[in-house]
Amino acid sequence: HIIDASGLLVVPGLVDIHVHFRDPGFPQKETISSGALSAAAGGFTSVVCMPNTKPSIDTVETLEYVLRTGLEQAVVKVYSSAALTYGIEGKVLTEMESLKQAGAVTFTDDGRTVMDPKLVYTAFRKAAELDVPISSHCEDHHLVSGGSLNQGEVSNQLGDPGIPRLGEELIIARDILFAEETGAQLHIQHVSTARGVQLIREAKARGVRVTGEGAPHHFSITDEQALLCGTLAKVNPPLRTKEDVEAVIAGLADGTLEAIATDHAPHTAEEKARPLGEAPFGLVGLETAVGLTFTFLVHSGRLSLMDALAKLTVNPSEIMGLPSGRLTKGSDADITILDPQKEWTVDPEQFKSQSRNSPFAGMKLKGKAVLTMVNGTVVYDEMLN
Ligand code: NCD
Ligand code: ZN
Ligand code: ZN
Repeated sequence: HIIDASGLLVVPGLVDIHVHFRDPGFPQKETISSGALSAAAGGFTSVVCMPNTKPSIDTVETLEYVLRTGLEQAVVKVYSSAALTYGIEGKVLTEMESLKQAGAVTFTDDGRTVMDPKLVYTAFRKAAELDVPISSHCEDHHLVSGGSLNQGEVSNQLGDPGIPRLGEELIIARDILFAEETGAQLHIQHVSTARGVQLIREAKARGVRVTGEGAPHHFSITDEQALLCGTLAKVNPPLRTKEDVEAVIAGLADGTLEAIATDHAPHTAEEKARPLGEAPFGLVGLETAVGLTFTFLVHSGRLSLMDALAKLTVNPSEIMGLPSGRLTKGSDADITILDPQKEWTVDPEQFKSQSRNSPFAGMKLKGKAVLTMVNGTVVYDEMLN
């Protein structure tokens, strides 16, 4: 079996360290198996699932369910984060040691909780002791509650109370200080504001063990997208303004943000048809990530090809301590073939994901994964078409 990859890029299978698959709890949005098909179609061979399922991934039992389902039903490698606290109220810390032993690669608050600083401090000390990274979703729900879009001209125009940048930045600053104090490894997820990027840049300069990720929607579109596609552009943290988009790109370019991660967050059409204030936050991202990275970062000359590839492979893998993301002697044959010149138009009807909530429908992109291989088995292939 010979694959002719002339003119194409043969790279280590891509690694996405931030996806929300919805099993257990919401199989109508996504299952581990449909999420994995979506990952494969996007060129990803390894993913790290977030724990805001129902029940949340806060016990060894639920974690083992997710990892086992991944092994049995997913075409890509499924890793998982575990919740820092039980349930969504966030009053009691989970058994971090046994969860780590059972395979949790990182710990996250479940994205809906505001945690008591004393609890978070204890969690950071425990994470330092266990040497496991904390992945912070960075949303202060006191400050952001009620808003759907970035607080600014667009939110005003649409009568939305808005989400201030400060809601994200306060938690970034807080968690950086916890990491600095305890020596724990901190990964800041989906950084969306200029000051958020700057806080990470400064912390790194002082030697704090902090890494950051940028999501494709935060380096490609602004809050004005909500004027075009309404709730499909509603995501946490929100799409910001041109200056923030530029700052996220600058952060990726100077190494402040080591990783590109999708924050793939599927929701049903029915949910996204609700009024702006009631529709859930989130967009599907696995199948557009490569196209957006090439179009907005590589072809635009903002990021070198090698840097872009590192941010989709070896860097995220190293942050989470995964065995994936590089091709070395003896490593698994997790391989992706990318066509950097392929021009295509985003059509959510074609997604392998069970959900279609993308603000990119109709957008013309250049660059696409055309073949994905996991452990030497082809799991996605459009080279024959
Ligand atoms: C996430 C989801 O849907 O699970 N949504 C999102 O907009 N990123 C959770 C969250 O981060 O609020
Ligand atoms: Zn989030
Ligand atoms: Zn998320």
